[in-house]
Amino acid sequence: MRILLLNGPNLGRLGHRQPEIYGTITLREVVEQAKAHAQERGATLIDFQSNHEGDLIDRLEDLDFDAVVINPGAFGHTSYALRDAIEGIAKPTIEVHISDVHRREPFRHVLVLEDVVTGQVIGRGTNGYLEAIDVLIDGAQ
Ligand code: DQA
Repeated sequence: MRILLLNGPNLGRLGHRQPEIYGTITLREVVEQAKAHAQERGATLIDFQSNHEGDLIDRLEDLDFDAVVINPGAFGHTSYALRDAIEGIAKPTIEVHISDVHRREPFRHVLVLEDVVTGQVIGRGTNGYLEAIDVLIDGAQ
């Protein structure tokens, strides 16, 4: 199974950005962990981060994967374009949010991808990426 790990805006600064909320592990370290975890479970992880909505959609349209783990960042609260892209590719997709968005500002309680994703892992820290990989692999067995 080939899993695309997509990270949206501001997640490139993971480890430095608001560490009290998102932790001190960098995106590079998260990706390394996720790649190792996927490999242990017999899957291949490919990763992509962008601050640009269209670039995330273009990457989804490449369709060179079987399933997706996406942390859409703030686009998860606003982007109907990303929502349509996920619906359109029709691949199993797990949405991850490192922080517990439901316990933060009200604008973060709205999750516009919610009805087109296969599942969500919210508020589990960066471990949530590994849990999302497990959900996809377990679901394919
Ligand atoms: C986030 C939560 C979003 O509200 C925020 O805009 C992010 C990160 C998270 O992983 O907790 O950029 O998606």
